[in-house]
Formats: sequence, structure tokens, C-alpha cells
Amino acid sequence: MRKLTGLAAAVALVAAGATAHAGEVEVLHWWTSGGEAKSVGELKKIMQGKGHTWKDFAVAGGGGDNAMTVLKSRVVSGNPAAAAQIKGPAIQEWAAEGVLANLDSVAAAEKWDSLLPKVVADVMKYKGNYVAAPVNVHRVNWMWANAAVLKKAGVATMPKTWDEFFVAADKVKKAGLIPVAHGGQNWQDFTTFESVVLGVGGAKFYQDALVKLDPKALNSDTMKKSLETFRKVKGYTDAAAPGRDWNLATAMVMQEKAAFQFMGDWAKGEFLAAGKVPGKDFLCAAAPGTSTSYTFNVDSFAMFKLKDAAAQKAQGDLAAAIMGTEFQEVFNLNKGSIPVRLNMKMDKFDDCAKMSSKDFVATAKSGGLLPSVAHGMAIRPAAEGAIKDAVSQFWNDDKVTVAAAQSRIAAAAAIQ
Ligand code: GAL
Repeated sequence: MRKLTGLAAAVALVAAGATAHAGEVEVLHWWTSGGEAKSVGELKKIMQGKGHTWKDFAVAGGGGDNAMTVLKSRVVSGNPAAAAQIKGPAIQEWAAEGVLANLDSVAAAEKWDSLLPKVVADVMKYKGNYVAAPVNVHRVNWMWANAAVLKKAGVATMPKTWDEFFVAADKVKKAGLIPVAHGGQNWQDFTTFESVVLGVGGAKFYQDALVKLDPKALNSDTMKKSLETFRKVKGYTDAAAPGRDWNLATAMVMQEKAAFQFMGDWAKGEFLAAGKVPGKDFLCAAAPGTSTSYTFNVDSFAMFKLKDAAAQKAQGDLAAAIMGTEFQEVFNLNKGSIPVRLNMKMDKFDDCAKMSSKDFVATAKSGGLLPSVAHGMAIRPAAEGAIKDAVSQFWNDDKVTVAAAQSRIAAAAAIQ
């Protein structure tokens, strides 16, 4: 009896300790599709395991445009979430507003500097201090395909060049199926566009035109050819594409309605969540002409300044968990991406992820590692938005000539 009382007292003590430190962590993200929701669910589990309360703040809309609008209004009203999915140069813009928390003590304790590629660490820091925690590396320049559809259409291998791609697409069309599953939203149009630019012009041209926004590159014949190729791809999409969500386009590939999709590897998360097997049910390959390059998209959570001590503690635990080995493995197995933390074991990952990991390292050395513009990794948000609008206007309206599109893109690139 006495022993039991002692035990009960000990349990009560531990529980009291846990409550004293347990806090609520509100996390804003846009991970609402099947594969995405499963992935973010893993982070929730880890935080709940540490005794914290997870307050989910999901704003639907692939690519995050809706989430960013909601985030702005919350911060302006003085009530930010503890953490928000913010990426690339946008992290710097938020930090310059003075609203982000300093994560240096967590980063130092967890040795982030030695666990992250320097290119990634630099994006997570503002004036030398960590303000965001990275979760993964997504590759954007992928092409996904349904193996059975290719077989039905008589397409023996994944096309390696744009010329080969159009031959394959014609065969799929002849077989009565949709060659390209596409969702007509600006960010999805641009996801396809940047892969076309990369495939047509190569890594240096991509860098000059879309990252440096060099007017000479933007007005060049190579950009003209890229736009012509991009328009040709559109001819292989279906009439119902405008406005379609990306995961519904992935579903068309899964359901054998369409052959290909140009999308980052969160599409793989969607295939996996539906029980599809890579290399058997669906295939992955670099988008035509892009196998020696890698457009990266690093998801990250920026943390906002909070007043409440328990909430601050929960926020620190969240940052530490994000970079921890447990989360990095289980999250990325579900999400379709690869761990951003260096030296992680890849044995549980599939061949698409292994190829991504190998190519990430190889392209970092060769100069083929490039930031994705479509996913907010490369340029200031204002110019990015304007360029995306110009590209989507061209995609949506066949009356816009290639020359007109080129000058609109160049004008948008000059926006400060
Ligand atoms: C990207 C994001 C990915 C994925 C995708 C579709 O911008 O980095 O993690 O979620 O949007 O929603």
C-alpha cells in the first residue's frame, strides 16, 4: 500500500512536471492532400509525445498561396502562429519585419551548422541567426508516369528528351488517354515551365534567365524555344485542367486516365499514400533533358516571437524535433522528399528517393543544383508572382504570342 502511494506520488510529480513545461504549438501549413497530411501527422505525434498540444492551422491550397495570405493577416493582427511554413527568400522578408524568433540556442545545442548543407543553413538564417528550421529537400524537376498506361500506349521507356517526350505523348493520345495530367494554377504552370526551360536551355541558362533574371537571357532565342515547347506541352493536357488541384492530377495518373505528370516529389507522397509501388505501378524520371540538374525546394518552418514561456518551450522543442533523426526519416518517407539533415541512412527509402539523394550530391558539385522558382526558392516574392502571372497568361491564352510573353516576363522580372 505504502509502495503504491509512493508510486502514485511519483507519477503525479512527473505529470505536474510535464504540465509545467507543456505548451501549445500552433503550426500553420498547407499540407492537406493525402500524402501531405500523413507526413505532417508524424510531426504532430512527435510533439504530442513530448507532452505538448498541437494546434493544427492548415490552409488548403497546394504551393501555399492561400496559406501565405492567411499568415499575413494573422501577423498583422499581432497574433502569429508559433510556426509557419515559410520558405526561401520569404524567410528573409519576414525576419526583416522583426517578427521572427531567434533559434540559435536550439541550433547550437543540436549542432545544426554541422548537420546542414551550407546553402540550406544560409537560407534559414537572418543576419547570422537561425530563424527557421528546414524539414526536407524536394526535387521539383521530375516526371511521373503510370507504367500500365505507357505499356498500353506502346511507350517502352521514359522519354529522355523533349523530342522523345512528344513522340510518347502522341502514342498515348492515339491510345485514347490523356498524355499530361495538369492542374491549371499559376504555381503548377510554373512547375512545368521551369522544367521545360531547364530541359531546353540547360543549367546555366536556367540560372541566367530565371534566377539572375538577366534581360539578355529572358529575351534570347533559347527562351523563345522554351516558350514554344511549353505551349506544345499544353496541347497534351485535357480541357478540364484549369483550376484543378495538383493531387487530383496525380490521381488521374494513378487511375490510368493519364500517362505523365510534371510535379515535384510530393506527388510520390500521394502515390505512396494510395498504396502504389514505385518502379511497378508508377515510374519516376527527371523531366526530359534535365537529368544532370536538380531544382530544389526546401520546406521549412519559421518561428514567430511568442510571449508565453510554455509556448516558447514548445516552439524550441518543435525546432529540435524537426531536425531530429526520427522526424527526418519518418516524415520524408511519407512526404516523397529526402532528409535535409546530412549523413542520414537511406536504406528505408525507395529508388526514386535514392536517385534524388545521389543527384543532389552530384549536382551540388557540378553546378547543376538550382533553386526552384515555382516554389519560392530563388527570387523575391514580388517578382516571382509577376513572372508566374505572365507565364500563366501565356499558357492559358493561345492568342498571346511567344514574343509578347517574352517581353511580359522580362518586364515582370524588373519589378522591385
Ligand atoms: C510545395 C511544398 C511542398 C508541397 C507542394 C504542394 O510548395 O514545398 O511541400 O506541399 O507545395 O502542396
